[in-house]
Amino acid sequence: MNESVLINQLSYTKEEVLNDIWNRLVNGTLSAQHPFHCPTIATICNDEPEVRTVVLRKVLPIERQLLFHTDYRSPKIEQIQKNNSISWLFYDSKSRIQLRIKSLATLHYQDDISRQRWNDTKTESRKCYFVQPAPSTPSLFPTDGLPSSYYEKEKSKEQNEIGYQHFVVVRTQVKEIDWLYLHHSGHRRARFIYNKDEVYYQWLIP
Ligand SMILES: Cc1cc2nc3c(=O)[nH]c(=O)nc-3n(C[C@H](O)[C@H](O)[C@H](O)COP(=O)(O)O)c2cc1C
Repeated sequence: MNESVLINQLSYTKEEVLNDIWNRLVNGTLSAQHPFHCPTIATICNDEPEVRTVVLRKVLPIERQLLFHTDYRSPKIEQIQKNNSISWLFYDSKSRIQLRIKSLATLHYQDDISRQRWNDTKTESRKCYFVQPAPSTPSLFPTDGLPSSYYEKEKSKEQNEIGYQHFVVVRTQVKEIDWLYLHHSGHRRARFIYNKDEVYYQWLIP
């Protein structure tokens, strides 16, 4: 019984597959061109799945955490407050690797972590936190939602704080990873389940 898998002609054990997964996730945060930079996340809204794209902002392999940023006023926040299960979906069409990741979310709002992340965020990425009224509010006309004052004034310290008031960091703790590798000679699939500091590995029929 062969306990390893060939990826691009290289043999990987299941432990190496898991390392490779976390390396790819970290790389996803480093370049906007990386296929893992903009994954999909699913939340639960009144028993219905809701999906949307987010930017993968930070990956902590040792802690097994994935982070994204969002607006505290957006509908997904209420959904997470009611049910903090979040599923992530990544697909790299060049490497033909899909990751489906189950996680539990914690919100960082107006705390040291949100302040640190806000300070590290570029002006262009902050822009969406200045929209008025809240994201998802119906509008009578097409608009970017930014008040004219956003463009008129140089962003003063007070104005910057308005954006920060809407900024939230969502930290998700990974529970389970489903890895699928597509290959013309036969696909391969594995599941990695975290239980406290242990990880349980399973090969699956693709
Ligand atoms: C490429 C791309 C990246 C996005 N990144 C984020 C993000 O990091 N955070 C976010 O809240 N929304 C992001 N969005 C917008 C969301 O997909 C979504 O439209 C918005 O957050 C509203 O979702 P909600 O109504 O479920 O709260 C992104 C959209 C695209 C297309």
